[in-house]
Amino acid sequence: MKEDDLKKRKNEHLALCETNDVAFRKKSSGFEHYDFDHLAITEVNRDAISLQKYFFSTLVELPFVISCMTGGTTEADSVNLRLAEVAKAVMIPMGLGSVRYALEDTSHDRLLQSIRNAAGGAPLLPNIGGAQIIQYRKDFSPFQRVLDLTGAACFVVHLNPVQEALQKNGDTDFTGLLQALEQFVSTIRVPVVVKEVGAGISARAARRLLEAGVAGIDVAGAGGTSWSGVEILRNEDNRGSELWDWGLPTAYCLRTVHELHTQFQFMLIGSGGVHTGLDAAKALALGADFAASARVFLQVLMKSGPEAVIGLIHEWAEVLRTVMFATGCTGYSGFDKNVLVVRKDLF
Ligand SMILES: Cc1cc2nc3c(=O)[nH]c(=O)nc-3n(C[C@H](O)[C@H](O)[C@H](O)COP(=O)(O)O)c2cc1C
Repeated sequence: MKEDDLKKRKNEHLALCETNDVAFRKKSSGFEHYDFDHLAITEVNRDAISLQKYFFSTLVELPFVISCMTGGTTEADSVNLRLAEVAKAVMIPMGLGSVRYALEDTSHDRLLQSIRNAAGGAPLLPNIGGAQIIQYRKDFSPFQRVLDLTGAACFVVHLNPVQEALQKNGDTDFTGLLQALEQFVSTIRVPVVVKEVGAGISARAARRLLEAGVAGIDVAGAGGTSWSGVEILRNEDNRGSELWDWGLPTAYCLRTVHELHTQFQFMLIGSGGVHTGLDAAKALALGADFAASARVFLQVLMKSGPEAVIGLIHEWAEVLRTVMFATGCTGYSGFDKNVLVVRKDLF
């Protein structure tokens, strides 16, 4: 794809995601089906609850992640620089949107280094699509350059077959993807996390990925931003509109992928429609090690700036602390499906 087309697409994605027009229409994340099992006789000291945890080898302050979004255009780079400030201030991991633009073109190197500096000690997670993993399978050295520039904690690979199918000139030949991913995992010097972009990673997909050596799964399920929706809006003729709500709800993905912990060790990230601190708390109780969010953070950033995103993340942390306090948990230990009740069982 020509560079100008790629830039145009990125800017259109940003503009559409500033609105709520790209939300799922008739499907939700599933978090609303759960409540917390309130424990009136809690004996926890709320102020002593620590939310710190390790993101691979880095100790971070909160179990939240700024999802991979954008990069490679003036506007996108400014978004990343401001999000990096947020990541540094609250000390949480931050994803970078697809770094495809920087693989061959070294003119972006300084910008990537500036984002690294702006993020301070916060982990950065550069991202690339499955199609590029196939394309570069004979030589992954451009990825290593990006890793070095960003001091990345892990590399994130997104899988988005339906988005690609609905996108004009999208990549739709994924022949050899799993084998290429296996090669990538064994070549690249950092852990590899695989995510969707809003259609969900099922247990069936996760098993194949974990067998290939992937270290983390971000389910990026349905219920938040619909990337089918984004592409349908970009198609002049609304092509593909019956696939607007394609995908598996986030809560379902978390519950079923988490069960694979009996056979594999991996980091599980819950994203896709995490819109509030309570959603994030439910994602964690359903088995996620981290809860991640994209469009909500972008919208707050665009409307009110980095300080407002920092404020929102602090608010989510306070909600999570209160939920732990009110379910009798002193921290992450025991904060699992046993503190959840299914709403339909309440009546
Ligand atoms: C403006 C924007 C750009 C995005 N670009 C990427 C990307 O380059 N790579 C990627 O893996 N995901 C990308 N995503 C998808 C998000 O990482 C996330 O998986 C998805 O939006 C679902 O999360 P949400 O419901 O919190 O928005 C993007 C999301 C937004 C809002």
